[in-house]
Amino acid sequence: MTGNYPVTDPLGTPYGRVMAERTVVISGGGTGIGLAAARSFARTGDRTVLVGRRAEVLRRAAAGIDGAVACPADLTEPSGARAVADFVAREFGTVDVLINNAGGNGLLEPPPEEQVRADPLARTAHDWTVNFRLNTLTAVLLTEALHERLASPGGRVLFLSSIAAYRGSGSGSYGASKAALHPYAHDLARRLGPRGITVNVVAPGLIDDTEFFAGRMTEERRRARVAETLNGRAGTPGDVAETLHWLSSPAADHITSQVLQVNGGAERGH
Ligand SMILES: NC(=O)c1ccc[n+]([C@@H]2O[C@H](COP(=O)([O-])OP(=O)(O)OC[C@H]3O[C@@H](n4cnc5c(N)ncnc54)[C@H](OP(=O)(O)O)[C@@H]3O)[C@@H](O)[C@H]2O)c1
Repeated sequence: MTGNYPVTDPLGTPYGRVMAERTVVISGGGTGIGLAAARSFARTGDRTVLVGRRAEVLRRAAAGIDGAVACPADLTEPSGARAVADFVAREFGTVDVLINNAGGNGLLEPPPEEQVRADPLARTAHDWTVNFRLNTLTAVLLTEALHERLASPGGRVLFLSSIAAYRGSGSGSYGASKAALHPYAHDLARRLGPRGITVNVVAPGLIDDTEFFAGRMTEERRRARVAETLNGRAGTPGDVAETLHWLSSPAADHITSQVLQVNGGAERGH
């Protein structure tokens, strides 16, 4: 799988030639945890495909990472997932690692119209739909678009869940949309196991330095979340990135259909 590949992004921008070991597709790779994961894989010589909706954010991220290319797409739409699969097929052929990291709690999405805001049931329907689309559908569509391209044996599929899948986080919608990924991952692990592909879920607790909270995390709330940990600190994107990297390594070949929590012990024992 080692090679020297000419690469252009889907908009035709050449990225020169990259020397890399594996092809790693990272949704939400332009910011936060996904960006840290891209840096982590690049350190071991892997080429990364960074997927997200904002082309400029992806371009900036890719420009700073060896072997990274930007692939703008909205993964809530089948056409977006298909565009990523077409790009990967054209440029690389095989996907060694798929990291389904795109997601959020809706705070960064456009607010609903006034009419919807004024109607509690319509607002609830909006909130649950947004969370399901952002967290569940993005991951399922990208996985279904790419699963035939996964390296076999040795491929890896990873999902980003959350501590909220175990304990909720307010409205129930975000945690539920993450928890929905767990049974999907178990079924997928069963489906892909015979091909020598592992499927796992990583569920972080509070992680600093991401766009996730849209600047709305108060100092008081952050202190309370940190106080729940056993090591007295918030997580970093690097904490999650290194876990994803290890689960993608040959060392983790016998680990599949598991949910691994990265939260300093804030939630324990599942
Ligand atoms: N930060 C935390 O404390 C925390 C804790 C537990 C779990 N998580 C999970 O970790 C993952 C990464 O989040 P983060 O904390 O790094 O926050 P982030 O910086 O907001 O990253 C989310 C990424 O997902 C992308 N994305 C969102 N919707 C998308 C769509 N429809 N199509 C393609 N890409 C999309 C965003 O890019 P665009 O907006 O440009 O599309 C963004 O790059 C998420 O799944 C999140 O739920 C985070």
